[in-house]
Amino acid sequence: MYAKIVILAGDGIGPEVTAEAQKALEAIGRKFGHHFEFEHHLLGGCAIDATGTPLPDETLAACQHADAILLGAVGGPKWDDPTAKVRPEQGLLGIRKALGLFANLRPVKLFPELLHASTLRPEVLDGVDILVVRELTGGLYFGPRQEAGPDGDQAYDTMLYTRPEIERVVRVAAQAARGRRKRLTSVDKANVLASSRLWRRVTSELMAREFPDIELEHVLVDAAAMYLIRRPASFDVIVTENMFGDILTDEAAMLAGSMGMLPSASLGEATNALGLPRGLYEPIHGSAPDIAGRGVANPLAAILSAAMLLRHSLGLEREARAVENAVATVLADGYRTVDIAQPGERVIGTAEMGAAVCERI
Ligand code: IPM
Ligand code: MG
Repeated sequence: MYAKIVILAGDGIGPEVTAEAQKALEAIGRKFGHHFEFEHHLLGGCAIDATGTPLPDETLAACQHADAILLGAVGGPKWDDPTAKVRPEQGLLGIRKALGLFANLRPVKLFPELLHASTLRPEVLDGVDILVVRELTGGLYFGPRQEAGPDGDQAYDTMLYTRPEIERVVRVAAQAARGRRKRLTSVDKANVLASSRLWRRVTSELMAREFPDIELEHVLVDAAAMYLIRRPASFDVIVTENMFGDILTDEAAMLAGSMGMLPSASLGEATNALGLPRGLYEPIHGSAPDIAGRGVANPLAAILSAAMLLRHSLGLEREARAVENAVATVLADGYRTVDIAQPGERVIGTAEMGAAVCERI
């Protein structure tokens, strides 16, 4: 197969971890006889520095012509001035919106070797296998807003949702639940927020109409945050609003022991030359400026994101599993970056971890 993959390495540890993910994809290409062509483009802070804008037209055009996009991370202290007009994060939100990537799939799967890397007790983590579907192009991140400005005393953001926006993301989550344990938890704040009451009503109606075979429960977001650490194994698929999903998935990453372990796939309606979703794949971690450039970041979330890319955008399930199995084997063989190491364990760097995965592919 031929596929064109755009890499948006971004800022901080982004370039370090996407380099290893690219190597893993190249190893898959060699082993299974595929030709992947890679194109690198600017997004985020590095794009601001080079062009003045966090999402240059050329980057967007390249993404629109790609079969899939692999992204590292954006942002850093250099661009953190609260009064700045352009911010790296605008590039990330802009590309999600421009490509219509409304469904962000964040699987939380635990590797048995890392059970003790979590701060939670192993018996609480036993059996955890969650898929969080985060709405990605609406809600609080994209509603009408007003900045306070340098001298202002008032600012606001708006959590706005429409029926079609809710329906399409719930549909993605319910379809995923069908291929899993057939349970869907919709998370909202319907006791307080009008948008959540709409979310709850639309979700109930859609599920009764189109997915009567899926068990649906509604949970308030504060309770969901609690249940995630009290009884995480009870969840199958979770679907929720953009910002709730952002917060809950950082929490969920701690079940896996480290932010450095969780991949994600952002999908929309647009398809690629293969007739599959033209998705964007990124680790859920940020740019980690504190460790950037030191070669110590964990590349596994980026590598696992590449596996999701193979599965969802290229339809290469066997190849996706080969990557995931290589990661599992590397962990079983005792390879650890600093974020997942226990006291006394030998710690390796980003490139060594990437090379260990490639060898096993
Ligand atoms: C994420 C990140 C982004 C988000 C930031 C960097 C804008 O936290 O992908 O979870 O909030 O969506
Ligand atoms: Mg986040």
